[in-house]
Amino acid sequence: MQVLVTGAAGFIGSNAVDALLARGDRVRGVDAFLDYYPRAVKERNLRAARAHPAFEFVEADLVTAELAPLLDGVDAVLHFAAQAGVRASWGRDFRIYADVNVLGTQRLLEACTARRPRFVYSSSSSIYGDAPDLPTVETTLPRPVSPYGVTKLAGEHLCRLYAQSAGVPTVSLRYFTVYGPRQRPDMAFHRFVRSHLEGRAVTVYDDGLQTRDFTYVGDAVAANLLAIERGSAGSVYNVGGGSRVSVNDVLGMIGELTGRPVEVRREERQRGDVRDTHASTELARAELGWRPATALREGLAAEIEWLRGEIAAARA
Ligand code: UGA
Repeated sequence: MQVLVTGAAGFIGSNAVDALLARGDRVRGVDAFLDYYPRAVKERNLRAARAHPAFEFVEADLVTAELAPLLDGVDAVLHFAAQAGVRASWGRDFRIYADVNVLGTQRLLEACTARRPRFVYSSSSSIYGDAPDLPTVETTLPRPVSPYGVTKLAGEHLCRLYAQSAGVPTVSLRYFTVYGPRQRPDMAFHRFVRSHLEGRAVTVYDDGLQTRDFTYVGDAVAANLLAIERGSAGSVYNVGGGSRVSVNDVLGMIGELTGRPVEVRREERQRGDVRDTHASTELARAELGWRPATALREGLAAEIEWLRGEIAAARA
């Protein structure tokens, strides 16, 4: 299969690229290297792929580039490219979120109307906001509490619309706080582990009793591969790790895995943060044959190992 991966240099995107290459697909990766975090980090994410003969890389911005050539010969699109980050999406920067997440997605979908490749959109648990019921099912009324969540929800609606009106077989996956190797540097586990390994206190927003259904990146990638084959056009699936854990419990686990208790500094609750998330994954199990396979402790150990390597490489 020839697969177009947008956001190919990012966290989940680069892990997906490696998985596709490993199973023998040809991959065209596209990335704009948005400055939300440093380009050097993203270049490292891409290092193995760039050396692979079945990988082609195009530096382009979905908001402005001519997209038809990117879709040449493509059987499936995995659309990860986005302006990420829940807490940073307020104020003036909202313009970037609207441009990248809404306009960029619409332009890509429009370009897909000619060939109609399988299309997997990276949505987010943040579209639910503070959901009234946990575990949350896909039919719950979406009520995002961050501007970021609003743009991801708009992207989802665009996907459903292009499935209905233009026959593009889109599938949206709502990921629940993905973690693991290459995690973005603004995200909780990355910040916690890096600070702790570097001998600094970690910053915990609020009381640390907020919970997340943390999802291992390998499981999120597996959901994408299954969605290409089995996702039903126009539908959405939750992709959650299967255990709801508090931030404080994660810190306890980091302490155990590193053999040293984590020192904590508290800050106030951040605007746009939801209190709790927990996915119902019945639909993904039934229709995609997907289930989370990596326990939190195991996945966290993999992220710690990766960050140890990153810190050592930066010092060398
Ligand atoms: C994450 C991603 O950043 C979003 O891109 C994604 O769409 C979203 O998951 C999702 O599931 O939809 P978030 O849940 O905020 O968003 O993920 P983390 O940054 O890992 O934060 C988890 C929790 O830790 C939050 O309550 C946050 O306030 C807290 N946190 C984060 C801290 O206490 N300290 C920090 O330094 C960072």
